[in-house]
Amino acid sequence: MNMKKISKTQPELFEFTEENYKKAKNEIKKYPNERKASAVLALLHLAQNQNDNWIPVAAISYVAKLLGMSYIKVYEIVTFYSMFNLSPVGKYFVQVCTTTPCMIRGAKKITDTCKKHISKNEKELSDNKLCSWTEVECLGACVNAPMMQINQDYFEDLDEIKAEEIIKKLLNDEFPEPGSAKKRKNNSPENGRTTLIGIKNA
Ligand code: FES
Repeated sequence: MNMKKISKTQPELFEFTEENYKKAKNEIKKYPNERKASAVLALLHLAQNQNDNWIPVAAISYVAKLLGMSYIKVYEIVTFYSMFNLSPVGKYFVQVCTTTPCMIRGAKKITDTCKKHISKNEKELSDNKLCSWTEVECLGACVNAPMMQINQDYFEDLDEIKAEEIIKKLLNDEFPEPGSAKKRKNNSPENGRTTLIGIKNA
């Protein structure tokens, strides 16, 4: 599976749920009518979230029509940005950061865990079709490295034991609790420290 290659299997129709349609209209309202195409990224994100993390051709046409854009313009946008997938990636899409800070802190062990439990190669669906994984560049949470993103949520301060626990839940169709595996709040210091004074090797 290549997430940027259009899937051969496509739904015939796509339209927003009532809730997403309202959200789309709100996004469109943020721009003057003649500039409503500016809402395209927001609408594509809504479409992808609604459709288990990938965008079918019918959704490209649907968004183009809603915004008065040509199909090819929306297609160009979808294929340009790496966060949009054009093939099924599963209900749970695991993106493991492998840029230097995460790599130094053990990202390789996380990708090895993905290989062991999800699929041997990245961008392939698990046997039960619920999950896939891929390596990505820095996701901006380096201070809590290593980390991965699953759908919209970040999972940080990982090691292979925690990663395995998370992945097993996904494969069981359960969504694990996001955040720091060490229970750090945002990027606060470990062990509740609030000062460097008087702490050896702080
Ligand atoms: S290097 Fe992994 S989040 Fe920045």
